[in-house]
Amino acid sequence: MLLEAKEISHSFNYPLFDSLNFYLNESESVAIIGVSGSGKSTLLNILAGVIEPNHGTVSHFGRDFKSLKESEREEIRRKDLGIIFQSHYLFRGFTGRENLEVASILSGEPIDMEMLKSFNIDSVIEQKVTQLSGGQQQRLSIARVLTKKPKIIFADEPTGNLDQESASHVMENLFNYVKSKKAGVVLVTHDEKLAGKCDRVFRLENGLFTLVEAK
Ligand SMILES: Nc1ncnc2c1ncn2[C@@H]1O[C@H](COP(=O)(O)OP(=O)(O)OP(=O)(O)O)[C@@H](O)[C@H]1O
Ligand SMILES: [Mg+2]
Repeated sequence: MLLEAKEISHSFNYPLFDSLNFYLNESESVAIIGVSGSGKSTLLNILAGVIEPNHGTVSHFGRDFKSLKESEREEIRRKDLGIIFQSHYLFRGFTGRENLEVASILSGEPIDMEMLKSFNIDSVIEQKVTQLSGGQQQRLSIARVLTKKPKIIFADEPTGNLDQESASHVMENLFNYVKSKKAGVVLVTHDEKLAGKCDRVFRLENGLFTLVEAK
């Protein structure tokens, strides 16, 4: 199992979820849907070890994240976990290629030109991030995460800025990556059609986390 979360509870001003359980297997894609403000991004950040939940445990590859030393967490974050945030955090003063090089150096994995071609950004990577369109930036930030070859990908509305065709192209690529590398993806999305392409779909609503579809 890639990821297991047990009895997760978290609240900010109000309780978001209580005693939530979740797991992710190798080669699996799981979608989380639900209205704005229901806590999807918070849950994704908890599963990715970015936010510590009020209660409960999160384990990656069978190791309880909380019990690890900070250096071990860093290692897992750098090599094994890939996070595609709702708003992408590219290094804005740098070119596309420089952004990819950072991921490549940190993980020791080469930049995959074939992937850049298939994302249709190979011809713009010498440009500064500020000179890229919103959709190009989004594809670049997904490419940057995939460059690391992570075992688990956490994606928060990864295709929100893309047209239908580019979006389905990028997502096909991501799903193929997951299947071929025995990785896994947790995808937060408002797009129910996209969610339906995942192996399992959960809805987070009024604090309830319910399985709504399984293949
Ligand atoms: N760091 C924080 N401090 C305080 N409250 C927060 C924090 N992060 C999120 N919240 C609150 O938690 C609730 C859930 O936020 P979250 O971002 O998880 O929702 P979401 O389901 O991802 O929504 P959306 O679909 O709009 O992205 C919101 O009411 C938000 O204001
Ligand atoms: Mg969100």
